[in-house]
Amino acid sequence: MNRFKVDIKNLKQTEELAKKLAFIIEKYNGGLLFLYGDIGAGKTTFVKFLAKYLEIQEKVTSPSFVILNEYHSGKVSLYHFDLYRLEKEGISSIIDEIQEYTEDDNSLTIVEWASYFQDKLPEERIEITIDYAEEETRVFSFNAFGAKSKQICDEIKG
Ligand SMILES: Nc1ncnc2c1ncn2[C@@H]1O[C@H](COP(=O)(O)OP(=O)(O)OP(=O)(O)O)[C@@H](O)[C@H]1O
Ligand SMILES: [Mg+2]
Repeated sequence: MNRFKVDIKNLKQTEELAKKLAFIIEKYNGGLLFLYGDIGAGKTTFVKFLAKYLEIQEKVTSPSFVILNEYHSGKVSLYHFDLYRLEKEGISSIIDEIQEYTEDDNSLTIVEWASYFQDKLPEERIEITIDYAEEETRVFSFNAFGAKSKQICDEIKG
């Protein structure tokens, strides 16, 4: 199954989904997640919960101003990108960097505002779109590309 949706009723359920994904990511020695969704959808919130269950010790903050935050204290290394403030020229150079981190074994790379990429997307990736419904209600839509990402998504579903 490549595509599926998860209906989230409240913040607690977002945490539970992140917990499940964190354990699967750990089992598969990392992966690449592209996060889509409007401002305030919950992208950074989801990353914070993932970090919690990867047992990352540092406080996870939004990388909006620095483009990349990295954390190495957890079960897998976390590279957290936020492309919101990048200009077009910056985007094309950073895609290679993202690809490099992805090739690191035992690392989870997460990209917020991945919609700024138009082409040259890595073959192995999971796209997650978070749609804001009301207050705490969200819809998480998963779309997997590549064999490993598809396996990870099968396990999230199952
Ligand atoms: N079910 C939920 N899942 C995720 N966040 C939720 C949920 N319910 C409420 N929230 C709240 O919505 C807000 C989401 O903010 P967050 O910074 O995670 O968004 P973002 O998508 O990263 O935005 P930006 O594009 O500005 O980076 C937080 O205040 C969070 O507590
Ligand atoms: Mg954010």
